[in-house]
Amino acid sequence: MRNKTAVLHGVRDLRIEDREVPRPGPTEVVVQVEAVGICGSDIHYYEAGRIGEHVVRAPMVLGHEAAGTIVAAGDQVPPERIGQLVALEPGVPDGTCSQCRAGRYNLCPNVAFFATPPVDGALAQYVAIHERFAHPAPAGLTAEQAAMAEPVSVGVSACRQAAVRPGDRVLVTGAGPVGLFAAQVGRAFGATEVAVLDVNKHRLAVARELGFATLPAGVEKRQCFDVLIECSGAPAAIADGLERLSPGGRAALVGMGPQLVQVPLQAIQNRELTLTGTFRYANTYPLALSLLSSAAVLTGPVITHRLGIDDAEAALQLAHTVPDSLKAVVTP
Ligand SMILES: NC(=O)c1ccc[n+]([C@@H]2O[C@H](COP(=O)([O-])OP(=O)(O)OC[C@H]3O[C@@H](n4cnc5c(N)ncnc54)[C@H](O)[C@@H]3O)[C@@H](O)[C@H]2O)c1
Ligand SMILES: [Zn+2]
Repeated sequence: MRNKTAVLHGVRDLRIEDREVPRPGPTEVVVQVEAVGICGSDIHYYEAGRIGEHVVRAPMVLGHEAAGTIVAAGDQVPPERIGQLVALEPGVPDGTCSQCRAGRYNLCPNVAFFATPPVDGALAQYVAIHERFAHPAPAGLTAEQAAMAEPVSVGVSACRQAAVRPGDRVLVTGAGPVGLFAAQVGRAFGATEVAVLDVNKHRLAVARELGFATLPAGVEKRQCFDVLIECSGAPAAIADGLERLSPGGRAALVGMGPQLVQVPLQAIQNRELTLTGTFRYANTYPLALSLLSSAAVLTGPVITHRLGIDDAEAALQLAHTVPDSLKAVVTP
């Protein structure tokens, strides 16, 4: 085997293939991948072959939460980058369209994003990427921590969109990996109260382990939060969370739910709530890596499973086989 790669051929059809080690283009680096987090979207492509309009029509490599060591560099890349541990930012935009020029490169219509059809992901031993999207990990960070810069970036983006400020009281709905990282980012942004709401007891226990107050779903709705970071996509949580915001409150909607959901109109109007969507992230990786490096954001309680690439399929099935699992990391 030269470049073991986990390739999705169809619904529940994942094959480990021997592929060529990529050669770097002039502005690219080749990274020996050391850790790839498994995300809900990878699981969804594996189970359903599609996410909405994104349909897997040809074999596709999964994985977009990756980190590893640079082993080769293109002509235009400083050769001293070889040997660096880097976190791979998985979406490379065109850099020229109006969204890119406005600084919102996450909204670039021409972005090539790992493991979003038809773009291959990073669940392989070697992968090539534009050098600017290979972010150096601070000294002391492990590859596994660096890989978590991806879901941490989602939290950074959400906390920026909702303008989390020192002293804010933040509610995070949904204590999956995204919510647990977003809650930690909110605390790092200066929130003095961060509460987490979920319907899953195990996940609430992890939130408590990370030092957060927890609310079981359905408890009395008091208006005692300045910010909602919605990370479940559950219509009930979206409505509940908004009801709990104080006047002037801000909500960032991260969780992906049904196309249409009901929101409490009077609360939004009478309390002048601000709602914003968030789509991935832009300009977050250096900060996400710093938060991980300073231990403001911990990965320990979130990463529950570690598997080799030959067991990538088991990693994709964990959410169902081990209900207490949170984040699995595959080591290619
Ligand atoms: N907007 C983006 O760019 C972006 C990026 C990454 C992930 N996401 C989305 O963020 C969400 C979270 O991702 P994840 O990987 O943590 O998913 P996850 O499925 O592991 O976590 C969702 C959590 O929500 C909880 N939940 C379900 N119903 C609830 C309710 N009524 N009240 C409170 N909690 C409830 C579940 O128990 C679970 O713990 C997903 O919807 C995902 O698609 C969005
Ligand atoms: Zn663009």
